[in-house]
Amino acid sequence: MFNTNYKLIATASVLSIATLFSAGCMDDGATPTKTTKANTATTIASIDGGVKYPVIGDKTGPYYVNNQSNMMKINNGRVPTANELVAWDKDVMPDGTGLPEGSGSVEDGEEIYEAQCVMCHGDFGSGGGGYPSLSKGNADELQKTLTNNRWKDPEADGPTRVFGSYWPVASTMWWYIRDGMPHTKSKTLSNDEVYALTAYMLNINEITIDGEEVDDEYVLNREKFLKIKMPNRDGFEPNIDGPNALKDVRKYYENPANFGAKKVNPATRCMKDCQEKSVVVTRVENGGISEFLPPMSVVRDLPKKEASDMGFNVLKNYEDNCMPCHVADGMGAPVTGDKEGWAEVLAKGMSGVYKNALEGINGMPAKGGASVSDDELKLLVDYMIDNSK
Ligand code: HEC
Ligand code: HEC
Repeated sequence: MFNTNYKLIATASVLSIATLFSAGCMDDGATPTKTTKANTATTIASIDGGVKYPVIGDKTGPYYVNNQSNMMKINNGRVPTANELVAWDKDVMPDGTGLPEGSGSVEDGEEIYEAQCVMCHGDFGSGGGGYPSLSKGNADELQKTLTNNRWKDPEADGPTRVFGSYWPVASTMWWYIRDGMPHTKSKTLSNDEVYALTAYMLNINEITIDGEEVDDEYVLNREKFLKIKMPNRDGFEPNIDGPNALKDVRKYYENPANFGAKKVNPATRCMKDCQEKSVVVTRVENGGISEFLPPMSVVRDLPKKEASDMGFNVLKNYEDNCMPCHVADGMGAPVTGDKEGWAEVLAKGMSGVYKNALEGINGMPAKGGASVSDDELKLLVDYMIDNSK
């Protein structure tokens, strides 16, 4: 019933490659690793339908669960078990299929957000540093950006495609948080927690439900959730909603003019000479594009400390030199923001930490491979520690 290819595709379609990596590296039919005093399991993630995996420290990552894994060799994972497929293949559909009962308030959502999401997604979902913004979709101005078209006006800003402005349905949000977040330990949130977080997402995006503001005291549940109408609900075509969805979609594709065909009457599908002869095609000359503006805002506006001691831009140097390895657990480096991880590192005393950072240790290259002075490196180490308390 399940062939290998199907399994891999099914897992890949669940979420990102990053998730595939962490899910794909679970030990087959695992007996979860024993916990020691230093690594106390805090939560249990039920990724494999039957087997519960411990979250140790801050991860359900490959370290503790997959005993094949080791920093020195690439581990491409393995075929997921049938149980895992069942556990991951759980959609939440716009019509409520797959959406469980439960409830959570904006206030609770904010608390969970502060504890489990803010280190990557920034205050109030600001995003930045490569992490998607979860807010900013509320402002009317941003709604309007969806009609911006660089094709027509190369000078214009592109559309801002975030949850509040772009996503047509909220069910994707519920599903995404439950199945994929927090990134290093997905599948650890309870249904009530997911309701609370979704409520908080609606709050920071100023989305109303049935005309009612989703304020701090608002308690979201399944019934109210199904009444959400996202601002961009009707911005996609063809319309895939309602009992006639399939029929509507077929009808849409019956008319080639809807999806790019000769604009003649009647419209005909075409594979060559589709463009009318009179149209002048402007070629972009080599070097014609001097600057590439990505369509999504990637402006970093995390309210991090503006570190610029001694004319040395700590934040920028951190981002360029240290962040690539210290941002997620994949490398075995203590993750900036991971209190427990850094507490372990710091236990040996600051001078030891500076020494290891200066001279390198295991996967940590001397000075992280950066061309900085010893004093500058110490500023970078301090910055990481300050942000991991
Ligand atoms: C370790 C960093 C990290 C943490 C912690 C984290 N996320 Fe994420 N999140 C990401 C990354 C990276 C992506 C983009 C994933 C991708 O595109 O494959 C993402 C994507 C998302 C998205 C989709 C956004 C979009 O527009 O596509 C949502 C929603 C989200 N996260 C919510 C949360 C919530 C809620 C929490 C806390 C429970 C959380 N995240 C914790 C790293 C993190
Ligand atoms: C190529 C990946 C990589 C880069 C780049 C990198 N690190 Fe690391 N770092 C690691 C790894 C892996 C460890 C864990 C080493 C161990 O203890 O096994 C680590 C550990 C550390 C530690 C803890 C040392 C200890 O005493 O345990 C500090 C501090 C540190 N890095 C600072 C930095 C700074 C500052 C930068 C940027 C200038 C940086 N790192 C860049 C991979 C990296």
